[in-house]
Amino acid sequence: MTQADPKKYHIKSFGCQMNVYDGERMSELLSDQGMSAADSSEDADLVVLNTCHIREKAVDKVYSDIGRLRRKDGSSPMIAVAGCVAQAEGREISRRAPSVDIVVGPQAYHRLPELMDVAKSGKKALDTDMPAISKFDILPSRGKQARPTAFLTVQEGCDKFCTYCVVPYTRGAEISRPWADLVNEAKALVDGGALEITLLGQNVNAWSGEDDKGQTQGLDGLIRALDKIKGLKRIRYMTSHPNDMTGGLVSAHGDVETLMPFLHLPVQSGSDRILKAMNRSHSAKSYLDILEQMRKVRPDIALSGDFIVGFPGETDQDFEETLQIVREARYSQAFSFKYSPRPGTPAAGMEEQIPPEVMDERLQRLQALLNQQQFDFNQQTVGRTTDILLERQGKLDGQLIGKTPWLQSVHIISPDLAIGDLADVEITQAGPNSLTGRIKERLAA
Ligand code: 5AD
Ligand code: SF4
Repeated sequence: MTQADPKKYHIKSFGCQMNVYDGERMSELLSDQGMSAADSSEDADLVVLNTCHIREKAVDKVYSDIGRLRRKDGSSPMIAVAGCVAQAEGREISRRAPSVDIVVGPQAYHRLPELMDVAKSGKKALDTDMPAISKFDILPSRGKQARPTAFLTVQEGCDKFCTYCVVPYTRGAEISRPWADLVNEAKALVDGGALEITLLGQNVNAWSGEDDKGQTQGLDGLIRALDKIKGLKRIRYMTSHPNDMTGGLVSAHGDVETLMPFLHLPVQSGSDRILKAMNRSHSAKSYLDILEQMRKVRPDIALSGDFIVGFPGETDQDFEETLQIVREARYSQAFSFKYSPRPGTPAAGMEEQIPPEVMDERLQRLQALLNQQQFDFNQQTVGRTTDILLERQGKLDGQLIGKTPWLQSVHIISPDLAIGDLADVEITQAGPNSLTGRIKERLAA
């Protein structure tokens, strides 16, 4: 069956922030083709599901979402599955879900318009290539930003091959985008209204490149260059690997004012035995040493992390060591997951897989500790005055939600301020997940 020319698209991104970034780039690409964004999938004649393959649950969600796109009259929009499930499962997707028209991997989505032409002729379209020419060279340039905060992918892919992880297979080998492209994209984002940029990469701190003078730079050099862009107020970056945490990046936290005091540095486990089986190539101690150096230059740094419980072979003792590293490291927020075996990864074939009820119990204990630390961290900010960047409307009348430098959400009521304003706020109350504040002063943008 041939399909009509889609006019309205809807993109739904799952998983990590890089998918959010990719979703925005696809949206710009489709708008550039004369299409417009629909408010929901019901109003769209092209729906892009930008998927995540990191855990089994995320994959199941894609298939149930595809099923839900069928309309009451039996018709369905043109459906494209993008992202890491597309890369990992390829043709299998349209076999399992025949209503899917397009399967496009994370390195090939700049070809969406051509793939739509194939789909329009009634054929299934598939592109999971990892082409030599980067999608970044083909995508339209950045324009007006809907929000004051923007993402910028600087590095993609991963060569670390942690034994549980699909990313090296779905996102491919590590690449760093060129210096000039990044400086230009950052400038375009700021011209388009962004005040804060979060630099993204699966191993963002492994970024390296040559600057405009031909000198090799690491992420700290790039951050220092972006710091000079007039109008850019805040710089963040994620996700970092402990092994790529250079002295230069640590010291940038001490003297680059726009670099926010926040570090997302996953440790995954506190047991050296498990870290070895995970192929993490760092130890609990080397991780804590990095934090010590970081806190020397930036004592107020907020720490975030990722944890996996129930990795194959994890004993009660190993798990206790994870609780112990959490107590020593002190997190302001964190993400923790039950181990999910992923097809094709070495850990999926390991013996001693951990029973689900043991994982449940460990996850509960770990999350109780992490939640307590997050609450403690939030409470420590009460009484302090800090700048917040207002990012979105709250649920109440006149309510706005902004972020502190430490990435906490703050609710304020102020009829005089708007999204995109920076303001000095006194924190008056702390909850487990957010803060309440009172405006002291609006800061000049
Ligand atoms: N099972 C559970 N969690 C995983 N992660 C990555 N792979 C798996 C898996 N197979 C987690 C890690 C990583 C985060 C993005 O997702 O903690 O840092
Ligand atoms: Fe996955 Fe490890 Fe690479 Fe992170 S560093 S993306 S966890 S393989």
